[in-house]
Amino acid sequence: MGKKLKVGVFFGGKSAEHEISINSARSIIKNLNRDKYNVVAIAVDREGRFYTNKSAILKHMPVAGDMLVETAEIAEADSVNIVNICKQIDVAFPVLHGPFGEDGCIQGIFRYFNVPFSGPDVLGSAVAMDKDIAKRLLVSAGIPTARNAVFYRHERALIDYERLCLELGPILFVKPANLGSSVGISKVKSPEDFVSALEEAFLYDNKILVEEFIKAREIECAVLGNEDPKASMLGEIMVNSSFYSYSAKYCDKDGAKMIIPAQLPADVSDNIRQLAIKIFRTLCCEGMARVDFFITDDFRVFVNEINTIPGFTDESSMYPKLWEASGLSYEKLLDNLLELAMARHTRNAKLRAIPKITA
Ligand SMILES: Nc1ncnc2c1ncn2[C@@H]1O[C@H](COP(=O)(O)OP(=O)(O)O)[C@@H](O)[C@H]1O
Ligand SMILES: [Mg+2]
Repeated sequence: MGKKLKVGVFFGGKSAEHEISINSARSIIKNLNRDKYNVVAIAVDREGRFYTNKSAILKHMPVAGDMLVETAEIAEADSVNIVNICKQIDVAFPVLHGPFGEDGCIQGIFRYFNVPFSGPDVLGSAVAMDKDIAKRLLVSAGIPTARNAVFYRHERALIDYERLCLELGPILFVKPANLGSSVGISKVKSPEDFVSALEEAFLYDNKILVEEFIKAREIECAVLGNEDPKASMLGEIMVNSSFYSYSAKYCDKDGAKMIIPAQLPADVSDNIRQLAIKIFRTLCCEGMARVDFFITDDFRVFVNEINTIPGFTDESSMYPKLWEASGLSYEKLLDNLLELAMARHTRNAKLRAIPKITA
């Protein structure tokens, strides 16, 4: 057997999804096969400092204390410069949800320092994170999404609720352009709701979306691969509240139920799986992504959004559950993601950087 790969698993981070990320990483660190990998746990605190030293992690992120079994350290210092980390790992596995971790920022650091990493590259990560840009690309590829309007902070005074209702209908969704886990999202049914919804969304981003309400079931598909991505079977999220909010996702154990496989006619499922691959490609993704759809009662399909670092707990997260149900175990899924990271890196390393000058 060859040399073990040193895998750096990054978790925590600067976004509102800090805790969710720790839970995802806990499962990943536990399931990475120690016969193949040396695992370095890299905790990122809310200020963005990096720690690999166990006592430093215990001090700065005590909830991650139980994750440090069979993990390696790469430095004795309290916090570690990311450049040192990049020099000492063979491959990075960012498990950082939301801004800075899922949006191309940390992917840019890995690329700059020539470290292979799991999940989409810089462009795919950035495009998929920004719900406005993603929608524009989807619309230009002829893929249906909820109709919407986009506003920047400086346009706030121009936002006209009555007009938006005329254009988009009486129920609206207001969301920050770049976030996840339903943070900053509101469902709006009155002018009063709308004012507080804008307030809330602008707390998290300078750009927001106002969307039409789609009355529909929520169906998700896991996609995996680089040049030839594959789609998993589908799952359904059955929500027990007015929408799939942060508390329905993480706080209320009866907030939502996951149904795998989703109960849909075979031809509808097949179309959605094909569409998931088309969306993955349209949004420049490689490695992995979870594609989330709305399906109306008469089987009209809309894409809601795409997540390039989806929730990854082995107990309850849709992405690994969908692959498990499709015949790929959690441990093998991790192997696949790391193989895809290495394959992309090898492919890109062959690119010529300097033109060949001919006389
Ligand atoms: N246009 C919409 N129509 C109906 N429900 C919506 C709409 N947009 C969002 N939702 C509800 O809000 C949830 C979170 O929205 P989403 O855009 O997926 O944000 P996030 O990236 O935070 O998960 C969805 O899962 C769904 O329940
Ligand atoms: Mg979502």
